[in-house]
Amino acid sequence: MKFTRQNLFVKKQVDLEKIANSKEGLERNLSAFSLSMMGVGAIVGAGIFILPGILAAKYTGPGVMFSFLLAAVVCSMAALCYSEFSSTIPLAGSAYTYIYSVFGEFIAWILGWALISEYLFAVSSVAVSWSAYFQNILAGFGWKLPAFLSAAIGTSSVHGGIFNLPAFLIVLVIALLLTGGVSESTRVNNIMVMIKIGVILLFVVVGVFYIKPSNWHPFLPFGINGVISGSAVAFYAYIGFDAVSTASEEVKNPQRDMPIGIITSLLITTILYTVLSTVLTGVVHYTRLNVDDPVAFALNLMHQNWVAGIVSVGAVVGMTTVLLVMSYGGTRLLFAISRDGLLPKSLHKLNAKTHVPVANTWIFGLIAAIFAAVIPLDRIAELVNIGTLFAFAMVSIGVVFLRRDKVLGHVEKSFKVPFYPVLPIVSFLMCLYLMTRLRAFTWIAFIIWLIIGLIVYFSYSYHHSIARETQFKD
Ligand code: ALA
Repeated sequence: MKFTRQNLFVKKQVDLEKIANSKEGLERNLSAFSLSMMGVGAIVGAGIFILPGILAAKYTGPGVMFSFLLAAVVCSMAALCYSEFSSTIPLAGSAYTYIYSVFGEFIAWILGWALISEYLFAVSSVAVSWSAYFQNILAGFGWKLPAFLSAAIGTSSVHGGIFNLPAFLIVLVIALLLTGGVSESTRVNNIMVMIKIGVILLFVVVGVFYIKPSNWHPFLPFGINGVISGSAVAFYAYIGFDAVSTASEEVKNPQRDMPIGIITSLLITTILYTVLSTVLTGVVHYTRLNVDDPVAFALNLMHQNWVAGIVSVGAVVGMTTVLLVMSYGGTRLLFAISRDGLLPKSLHKLNAKTHVPVANTWIFGLIAAIFAAVIPLDRIAELVNIGTLFAFAMVSIGVVFLRRDKVLGHVEKSFKVPFYPVLPIVSFLMCLYLMTRLRAFTWIAFIIWLIIGLIVYFSYSYHHSIARETQFKD
């Protein structure tokens, strides 16, 4: 089949009437509260237990909260755009499916490929943070892994690291759990979220008594420039809210509850990040915070070893839920892409008993585990951001095209982005701008990732696309 424009940009056909009349739809059980809890559950992980330290030390100094605030503004705009899409095209596959219906296959593939990097690297990086906190707990019992098994080569805080064994193993344990068919109950999630919020507040309450205002001087040693670059990195801390937008089919009253759920979870997380980072930099001078477990590190400096223990356990529990949700999301994304024929069929083959895509789950888990074991944290964290910012940029500008679409543009939507078209365009530009603030290494890695994606597309996906096969039979 020739590579023509029409072929490359074939669109996924969305039969909205069929979806609307389907009796097989999901039950509408979720309230705005559950959605908010889901958001906080998926969002709060390494971003709060690790990033404030690295950010303060390398980008912003004590004014790190400004980077979190700026990242929150960009995320909120992208979140509104997500909401409009999810209320128009209630199909699995999230942003990848939306863009397939609006921009056609080639762009959807690039976006899907970027999203795979988001989920893969999010899992790897959260696993590295999980490992740091887990080792901290082990150290409390006097157990210490040999340095070469405790971190990846090039990890600044560990000399002699080669392979991060705990990070490698936790990703595989999560894959094992997922292959068994993990049913996520909102009740369990709510409890985990409470534990997470509880330990964060515990740190804040204890830390307040150890603040030395002199640690806040100078407040912005790297200037506004540092704050802006920092916000491109802080963006990482909010990743996961896209999980909220994928639940639109299960929300009681999506028009009202979806924006409330998304905005509330972003608001709660913004408050948590801002307060925690203010206390953290007040307790420890920012120059000492370039460590993998800054919250536990600060508590140990305060000689609050038992509080450090509790916070570390809470952090490990909290990060485990992020690992679960992001691994789940990644495997379901591969599932959707494979179902469209763009990746091998084995990736959407379900186990007859558990209805889980088993091969897909192991492949995803193994790749994420290897990345977690051999790449240092700060490098992986930025890779998550560039893929996600790219996806958010596409979804934002996608809203403009969605509204102009001959069919989808006239669908009665349960949620519409306010201040259209200014908001989606500003969101698009902000995402692109933040991408430009990421380091050269991140860009090179992302471009290599995209080139691999293009090779896969032209050598495999293009020739197996189901949309093309059904629409233009040669
Ligand atoms: N937002 C997620 C976290 O902070 C990736 O762990």
